[in-house]
Amino acid sequence: MNRMHIMPVKRIDGEIRVQGDKSISHRAVIFGSIANGAVTVTNFLHSDDCIATMMVFKAMGVSIEEPRRDTLEIHGKGLNGLTEPPDILEMGNSGTSARLLCGLLSGQPFFSVMTGDSSLRRRPMKRVVEPLRLMGANIWGRSDGDHLPLAVKGGGLKGISYRLPVASAQVKSAVLLAGLYAEGKTSVEEAAPTRDHTERMLRYFGASLELEKDGKVITIKGGERLYARDIEVPGDISTAAFFMVGASILDGSEIMIKDAGLNPARTGIIDVLKEMGASIDVSNIRDRSGEPVGDIYVRSSCLKGIEISGEIIPRVVDELPVLCVAAAVADGETLIKDAAELRVKESDRIAVMAECLSAMGVKVEVFDDGMRITGGKRLKGAICNSHGDHRIAMSMAIAGLVADGETIIEDTECIKTSFPGFEETLRSICK
Ligand code: S3P
Repeated sequence: MNRMHIMPVKRIDGEIRVQGDKSISHRAVIFGSIANGAVTVTNFLHSDDCIATMMVFKAMGVSIEEPRRDTLEIHGKGLNGLTEPPDILEMGNSGTSARLLCGLLSGQPFFSVMTGDSSLRRRPMKRVVEPLRLMGANIWGRSDGDHLPLAVKGGGLKGISYRLPVASAQVKSAVLLAGLYAEGKTSVEEAAPTRDHTERMLRYFGASLELEKDGKVITIKGGERLYARDIEVPGDISTAAFFMVGASILDGSEIMIKDAGLNPARTGIIDVLKEMGASIDVSNIRDRSGEPVGDIYVRSSCLKGIEISGEIIPRVVDELPVLCVAAAVADGETLIKDAAELRVKESDRIAVMAECLSAMGVKVEVFDDGMRITGGKRLKGAICNSHGDHRIAMSMAIAGLVADGETIIEDTECIKTSFPGFEETLRSICK
């Protein structure tokens, strides 16, 4: 089992660029593959999760070249150019691949089987299978289709109007992808806004979407043609989040993160940290392939505990583990509510963060949909197991920087699902 050893540091300092955004890298491969023409993707996140998505399209006959580690040349085959994969499709640890591709495969007139690693095979799939079956897809799987492996025989779909029972961009995107292949119109309505990278990329490729109710209802017409355009993937704000929290909690720190994605559905981390008292400035905002990007400057400050709940949750869903670390250092209590989704991520992030922070001497009370963290006491170095969850491993590495003594993170292999260069980047700014 891989381990990471972290010793306390004085401060972090420097200018970094984080790797390409994971959500947008997945979508660049998906939409590039079904666009008409060639698409060059730069700053592609070369991580296990995004590679899983790329391998699926290669298995369906799409030619994808990799002239550099972070550059793809995708020869899009148009909406109806994919071919039946000759073998089982392996999604690895990636929920985004499994859920979005379940939607895409439902639109294909061929047979396919998807599976994933032991963590992904435990994660709920009914949330996508249910609407896709309503559209006419034939999907078989364990637990009546709630768990991978899933077998899909798609084609012949009909558009539906669907209200999402969970705030999930993956479910929204799966239904919109199937909608591209359905007869008539497909509408999804979300209760709380989630990341809209799918909608932005569809528009960037020339598809027309109708938005109603402040963007909460999204409608797509079947058969929209996608026109190939190059994509420059913004830096991943979810990986920037680790350094934002690190710089906030380590006295005397100062960090500049260049070219980070600033999609408003993803900037909850900035809003929450600022509410906790963090010193963060965003500058140089511009458009990159339909997404806002900019530079994020963070200086250390005294954080205080707050409540994190309600509509902000989908905007910080992936950053809650590292926000738990901020909460452990902040003065007073932080209450996280309405976050039951954390229980069905790569690990049960409520249970695992509680276990890791408790090992470091932090008082944590756990609820079904969140936790209460009492901060302000100096953390103790400890042995923390990531349970195979990349965001837990990276969050606990940040916690280790402010703890007394050594922190050992066990099971760190998973970090390469989203951020293969994490340890090098972190070590390069530790003083
Ligand atoms: C993602 C959506 C989120 C997020 C995941 C990536 C996406 O999941 O947690 O890391 O790219 O659409 P949910 O849609 O399940 O909330």
